[in-house]
Amino acid sequence: MKLVKTVKEVREIVKEWKKQGLSVGFVPTMGYLHEGHKSLILKSVSENDKTVVSVFVNPIQFGPNEDLASYPRDIKHDMALVEDAGADLIFNPEPEEMYGSHFTTLVNTTEVSENLCGAKRPVHFGGVCTVLTKLFNIVNPNRAYFGQKDAQQLAVVKRFVKDLNFDIEIIGCPIIREDDGLAKSSRNTYLNKEERKAALILSKSLKLGLEAIKNGERNVKTVTDIITKSLNTEPLARIDYVSIVDNENIQYIDTIKGEILCAIAVYIGKTRLIDNFIYKCEE
Ligand code: PAJ
Repeated sequence: MKLVKTVKEVREIVKEWKKQGLSVGFVPTMGYLHEGHKSLILKSVSENDKTVVSVFVNPIQFGPNEDLASYPRDIKHDMALVEDAGADLIFNPEPEEMYGSHFTTLVNTTEVSENLCGAKRPVHFGGVCTVLTKLFNIVNPNRAYFGQKDAQQLAVVKRFVKDLNFDIEIIGCPIIREDDGLAKSSRNTYLNKEERKAALILSKSLKLGLEAIKNGERNVKTVTDIITKSLNTEPLARIDYVSIVDNENIQYIDTIKGEILCAIAVYIGKTRLIDNFIYKCEE
């Protein structure tokens, strides 16, 4: 397993692989890797001849009052996890290598990025699409792997890859959780003991919403009210949003039908956590 810091070196290595007819899987990350990231890497390793993992805390996807400076980093730990998962290369560029001193291009989506986190974090998805455009052009993968943990990001990526004709298969992977239900996240490290306990309210509340839908409830407001009421029982929780949208265009709906995404963002203390479930109506 090799750690590479420059665009040039990644290009040379991948070019050599492609010359040999090998397929390349790609897992973009911001590092501080956990079992959620690992599940994506393992899937890529099982489906491709070679796997590249990028570790890059992308400055342009953070808003001015977000956690760019404090975002956790530990490249030694990341290297061990990537190696253990059987990937071949980590791309870990410095911001200067990615953006130089005069970067003026932005790749953005409309519609699919306008609600949920897109409404709350206006620069976020433009930053994500821009860095992914660069990373896709650098790594030139056959397949790229994304977690349902960031369900709107997955929908945005699927859309922009289709709209811009990237020849890359986008593969969505399920949410990996702690034993008690909390979705794994690099940001869980911000939580103190009391907040860690309080954070369970996210998965618990989503479960109540899912149960209601499974029992036949089709009114969006009724379901979001159940989730909101449950979240509000936790004194340390402050709701950012509780929403149900269609899972393709991420547009608000009134009635549950087809494939829906139920997504929540909740502050536990100062830490903003997200979680979701997807449900497909059979009728
Ligand atoms: P990051 O938050 O590091 O996540 C990298 C990938 O890991 C994303 O596809 C995310 O959905 C997935 N992931 C995180 N936690 C997960 C979990 N508990 N279960 C399953 N998958 C999980 O998402 C980003 O980085 C960035 O926005 C990036 C795409 C790298 C662009 O900068």
